[in-house]
Amino acid sequence: MTRTDEIISQTEAVTARNYAPLPIVITRAEGVWAWDVDGRRYLDCVSAYSSLNQGHRHPKIIAALVQQVNRLTLTSRAFHNDRMGAYLSRLCRLCEMEMALPMNTGAEAVETAIKLARLWGYRRKGIAADAAGIVACRNNFHGRTTTLVGFSSESRYRDLFGPHSPGFTLVDFGDADALAAAITPNTAAVLVEPIQAEAGVIVPPADYLSAARRICRENNVLLIYDEIQTGLGRTGKLFAYQHETDAKPDVLILGKALGGGVYPVSAVVSSAELLGIFEPGEHGSTFGGNPLAAAVGDAALAVIEDEALAERAAELGTWLRKALDRVRSPAIREVRGRGLLLGIDIEPEAGTARSLSARLAERGVLTKDTHVQVMRLAPPLTIEKPELEWLVEQIAAAFE
Ligand SMILES: Cc1ncc(COP(=O)(O)O)c(C=O)c1O
Repeated sequence: MTRTDEIISQTEAVTARNYAPLPIVITRAEGVWAWDVDGRRYLDCVSAYSSLNQGHRHPKIIAALVQQVNRLTLTSRAFHNDRMGAYLSRLCRLCEMEMALPMNTGAEAVETAIKLARLWGYRRKGIAADAAGIVACRNNFHGRTTTLVGFSSESRYRDLFGPHSPGFTLVDFGDADALAAAITPNTAAVLVEPIQAEAGVIVPPADYLSAARRICRENNVLLIYDEIQTGLGRTGKLFAYQHETDAKPDVLILGKALGGGVYPVSAVVSSAELLGIFEPGEHGSTFGGNPLAAAVGDAALAVIEDEALAERAAELGTWLRKALDRVRSPAIREVRGRGLLLGIDIEPEAGTARSLSARLAERGVLTKDTHVQVMRLAPPLTIEKPELEWLVEQIAAAFE
């Protein structure tokens, strides 16, 4: 039995089977590379679903973490800590917003945005008690809490976890007319991912977000973007909505890369007018905004700014896209996406995305299937051109 087999059988004996990982046991990583327990090296093109935009163990983020660990890690929000204010100031500046509410995981931050929208609906818009509605999109992915899976259109995520929370209406992603038609006087917010990453890297038609912005403004409805996966440089702009003009949301939800690949850090970012609605006791989190998270979040954002990771993603993403277009395998139906968030849509006759991921793993590349036929490529934004060239060679060989 190899070390890999040993660890997998030990792990599977005691772990719920809510994931089906590839049979690779990673033991260390640095930058864009990860090593398994048998000493094999892999190029990480999953980046923990875009949580590793800054690469594995970025020295500045690790230094901030270690320094903070040696001083103060947790206070709870019963007291102030000396790190949260500076971190949230940087976050607000980058988002061109005024206030933030710190949480830990992505799903929690989406839940927080939903609570904010409902609170605003009752306190400011004058919606009758318990009547506030939220319009979301089909094929959304916002997380795994009971409320969030209740308005998923994916039966595996939703069906056996009811009864579900009412108050959500689904419309087709990318259809601005359907969005406008779904809004009623009781609608508090529209919740949308600027690119549906988990659904298979679905990019909406041009001007969809600016149309959503206009529709929300005209109807006194909040526009909320879930940029947990698309934000912080991944798509070639700091935020994916910035690919359109006049599409800025009222509320921005961030997570994943906000934690620099070392710690769960998420946040809801908005105006003082909106986030100022919360009164003490109406929301909270033991760990949200803790000094360690703040130190890590601050460093994670500093790296994104200092190393111009959004610009890198734009430049390298354009190059990778063109290189993949040149692969020209009959197995490839389409390559789509923005920046370094790309999806390779595979012809069903050629096999599944999972079988391709397994073939690429044998060649030293970590990738992940989304929705059976789409293989997502999302390497750390710190990746270098020669590494991308090598990646394209491996992909071309795997398709042969
Ligand atoms: C767009 C989006 N929203 C929310 C989430 C949920 O984040 P978390 O797994 O940290 O709860 C994810 C995770 O993949 C995501 O991609």
